[in-house]
Amino acid sequence: MLSPKRFEAVTQLFFDVSGIRLGEHKRPLVVSRLQKLAQERGCHSLDEYVDRLLNQADPLEVVKVVDKLTTNETYFFREPQHFDFLAQLMSRPRSSPGDFRVWSAASSSGEEAYSIAMLLADKMGQRGWEIVGTDLSTQMVDNARRALYTMERARNVPQAYLKQWCLKGEGQYDGYLLIDKMLRTKVRFQGANLTQELPEIGQFDVIFLRNVLIYFDNPGKEDIVNRVITRLKPGGFLLTGHAESLANLHVPLKTIAPAVYTHA
Ligand SMILES: C[S@@+](CC[C@H](N)C(=O)[O-])C[C@H]1O[C@@H](n2cnc3c(N)ncnc32)[C@H](O)[C@@H]1O
Repeated sequence: MLSPKRFEAVTQLFFDVSGIRLGEHKRPLVVSRLQKLAQERGCHSLDEYVDRLLNQADPLEVVKVVDKLTTNETYFFREPQHFDFLAQLMSRPRSSPGDFRVWSAASSSGEEAYSIAMLLADKMGQRGWEIVGTDLSTQMVDNARRALYTMERARNVPQAYLKQWCLKGEGQYDGYLLIDKMLRTKVRFQGANLTQELPEIGQFDVIFLRNVLIYFDNPGKEDIVNRVITRLKPGGFLLTGHAESLANLHVPLKTIAPAVYTHA
């Protein structure tokens, strides 16, 4: 049982941390995702759990709630047009000096960042590039660092990449794959909240900001995009999810292909 008052309180807490507003229609999702936490804490109802959460104000428990309420769905080589775009980019002469740097700005459990890494390793070899993955959810950052996935999640990984970059698990890891060590060393994951001041992660040639803007209203989207593109190198590219148009937003960007933007 989750009373309207507790629903309001817990979704406000989530909004304060993530910037994401969960409306009344998300009640079933909130209830089902928090139910397990409440049981684990020995609470007899969700109301009791939310009261305890608010009274104790334990930052670690708040992190757990945020982890539960974020939607982390992702998979390898999602929206493949962007990987074709990246491959084309690799075939052109580079305009900016230094390493080719890519940021997976809502990296979830890491599949997006490792997909990019496989492509860059294929096109550029082992040197001259690096990837940073960031996410609000500490649980997802941990999972991404672990780089261990069930085989069924890898169905979109091209065969050649599977062979080259994915180690097939055995024994207790039967049915799993581990991303190759070389790729793991090229991809760094850390926590970052896109609605707040960003950590010092440098400038990027390409930023993947995909399937996260969808959770924000227009002012929220504008705020995030304007903050994120402060990390875009001149002439760099911002990629959004194909369902996430920036068309009606006040952002200094122009479209050059579907869901591909550069400085206006
Ligand atoms: C649906 S996943 C998208 C993953 C990947 N980019 C893709 O397209 O498959 C959305 C991710 O955004 C993260 N997220 C939500 N709000 C965020 C915020 N304020 N700052 C950073 N990441 C956030 C969630 O934790 C989740 O892992």
